[in-house]
Amino acid sequence: MTERKFRIGVIGLGQRVAHVLLAMDDIGWKYTLAGYADPSPVGLPILKERDIAPGKSYDDVAALLRDGPFDLVMIGSPNHLHYEQLLAAFDAGYPIFAEKPIVRTEEETFALARHLRDKKIPPLFMGLVMRSMSIVREVISRVDSGALGEIISMDTTEHLHPEHGGYLARNWRRKQEWGGSFLLDKVCHDFDIFGRIVGARAKHVASFGGKRIFKADRAKTPRKYDDGSDAYVLRDAGWSAANDAFHSDMDVTDHQTAIVEYDNGVQLSFHSNSHVSLLERRWYIAGTEATLIADLVRNKMLMRGALSKGKPERREWAGVTTDLHNGADQEMARDLLATLKDGVPFPVTPYDCMEAGLTVMAIDRAMETKSVVDCAAMWADYDAARGN
Ligand SMILES: NC(=O)c1ccc[n+]([C@@H]2O[C@H](COP(=O)([O-])OP(=O)(O)OC[C@H]3O[C@@H](n4cnc5c(N)ncnc54)[C@H](O)[C@@H]3O)[C@@H](O)[C@H]2O)c1
Repeated sequence: MTERKFRIGVIGLGQRVAHVLLAMDDIGWKYTLAGYADPSPVGLPILKERDIAPGKSYDDVAALLRDGPFDLVMIGSPNHLHYEQLLAAFDAGYPIFAEKPIVRTEEETFALARHLRDKKIPPLFMGLVMRSMSIVREVISRVDSGALGEIISMDTTEHLHPEHGGYLARNWRRKQEWGGSFLLDKVCHDFDIFGRIVGARAKHVASFGGKRIFKADRAKTPRKYDDGSDAYVLRDAGWSAANDAFHSDMDVTDHQTAIVEYDNGVQLSFHSNSHVSLLERRWYIAGTEATLIADLVRNKMLMRGALSKGKPERREWAGVTTDLHNGADQEMARDLLATLKDGVPFPVTPYDCMEAGLTVMAIDRAMETKSVVDCAAMWADYDAARGN
């Protein structure tokens, strides 16, 4: 018997969805792209590299959705469009894979939660790809096994190289109205996993951040790396892009720190900078029984019992890639296919994605108001919207 080919429609054929489609192809997923709704599809050249036919260009989302049936609708548009496009895709009724953050604001989160409470929706899978990373699965399983004892505190980072920071300063992510915020777009992944590790919601948050790197009075900074290659321009910044990383109208931060106290007393610090020469995405987890360091850039884990004098246990996963996803896209594609074909539960839910988003939004609110935000009212509104 020949294997069924999935018929897929894409809303927002950008770089991300194109890479997810390549990862699906990598794992042998058989699909046909019916087409896409996208005014300027940045992902087309990425599909072309692999000779994947993008299908038809539809005038708009409604025209695409009318042309079902689809086995999967994929949403990879800028964040401000997720809410309305999700609602349109819910009405069409086909399974959906949507990129994170699920929506861009607290109001949209509550409205979405009410929608999920009141209406039946098709299956919805979120692209929180870190949930599919082997190293992350191992960290979660160590925590769940009790090997770390009670988690007391965590120190966490995500630092990006200048090219990545320069891309963020030129791409649509530079504007709150499109991206939400630097942290919402970049690290809702991490805050999803932190919540899962801690096993509680954020209670109090505080944060400081600023735009001190990609600003006009630093525009004379050298535009070449020391090997002569161009700096700050390598990636196509796509839809509504700005020309120059230092002269853009960016209104989000380019570095930010945060501290969180969770409901169960766990404390977490977070530090992010978008212009560093030493890449880092690292979680230092201190439990009563053991300490664990997860190095997400190098795909390495280190762990030792709190009272152990022996060598730390070291684990390393192969498949380190320059996109820093380290094979997680392919793992996520496998998870999604297993879900769609065999009903295996997907590793993350839309609610996880909403809760990670709300945590980051509270952090941004703390930064803007220069205050410690008590998250109780936000969670009460969210629970009411969910019907809990
Ligand atoms: N899971 C991850 O690791 C990961 C990584 C990168 C991006 N993302 C998410 O994926 C989404 C897309 O990011 P990206 O990096 O691919 O951005 P991108 O700029 O490469 O792509 C966005 C695409 O949306 C299109 N678009 C703009 N307006 C549209 C409209 N009205 N209707 C349909 N399409 C429209 C643009 O033309 C562009 O092709 C974002 O939500 C982002 O947060 C997730």
